Amino acid sequence: MRTIGISTGGGDCPGLNAVIRAVVKAAIVTHGWRVLGIEDSFDGLIWLQKSRELKLDDVSGLLSRGGTILGTTNCGNPFRYTVEENGRKRECDFSDQVIRNAMALELDGLIVAGGDGTMRISHQLAGKGLKIVGVPKTIDNDLAGTEIALGFDTALHTAMEAIDRIHSSAESHHRVMMVELMGREAGWIALEAGMASGADVILIPEIAFSLSKVCDAVLQRERAGKRFTIVAVAEGISLPPELQAEAKAYKVSSPSSVAKGATVVLRDAMERCTGKETRVTVLGHTQRGGAPSPFDRMLCTRMGVAAVDLVARNDFGKMVCVQQGRVTSVDISVAAGPPRRVDPQGELVRVARSVGVCFGD
Ligand code: F6P
Repeated sequence: MRTIGISTGGGDCPGLNAVIRAVVKAAIVTHGWRVLGIEDSFDGLIWLQKSRELKLDDVSGLLSRGGTILGTTNCGNPFRYTVEENGRKRECDFSDQVIRNAMALELDGLIVAGGDGTMRISHQLAGKGLKIVGVPKTIDNDLAGTEIALGFDTALHTAMEAIDRIHSSAESHHRVMMVELMGREAGWIALEAGMASGADVILIPEIAFSLSKVCDAVLQRERAGKRFTIVAVAEGISLPPELQAEAKAYKVSSPSSVAKGATVVLRDAMERCTGKETRVTVLGHTQRGGAPSPFDRMLCTRMGVAAVDLVARNDFGKMVCVQQGRVTSVDISVAAGPPRRVDPQGELVRVARSVGVCFGD
């Protein structure tokens, strides 16, 4: 009987529990294997007390639950693990301990659901002999090697619904409403949620914009009798040069926010330039919560089963992926590579422009 491990790494997202369920069910029902849940990403292999057996009862009712029952972290790289000694922090390499503990747990395979950071660590650990299989998850949808990662579709639903609600308020108050969406250096959520909810302006990191072009779009709408404007802003935008000094002066409390307050700086500048009342809504971590969409539940189930199939074939060092709509796999090194970003010349941007969306360029 084989023993396999399952863990979830990086930022949480809807669908992680659905993957855990699919892996546990496929491993037990199809193969009669034993499954260990490894807690808090790779932390669970650094500290042995952070692993527990998962049986069918443990995954009952998980399909629709947001978050991850195994916990996760986006700052637990075993190659550069921060430890505190005598009040001082230093980085230690715990990767050998991870390999030793995987052997102590008699793991015949480890399935890891994660984003680019998790895939990079997995690739390094595979190089040290760990039998690892990745499952792509990230609401940002920027993971290389796959057309879609789990969690993205649900995040899009959440973002689209939020913008829909903001739409009616914008119209009632004749305001410019800016909605900041997550995505780090990729503009997928802003682009697709913006398009799906009829945003008038979409600002993404992949397309440089100017303040005057964005303000012109607002004023043109005003002249056409549309007294409100919806602006979907990706958190990773770079502000145009004329606003960068202002951005530097603006302090944000969250160190992980890539936006560094860019949306608020842009709001102030737009208000000055258009004379229109402008409000900002930062959707933040709401995009990572909630029950997964039907599409994500299906994707998680398909990907979880595909990951177990790879383990059954001893096909390690791979990440499950979707290519041309089919679930297949790629070498994990591909996923560890540069992120997948929006193509400014691609079909989606072209379609958006054709229906009058302004990208500020
Ligand atoms: O990668 C997922 C993500 O939600 C990004 O969109 C966002 O920039 C980041 O994680 C936020 O991380 P944290 O949870 O550490 O604030």
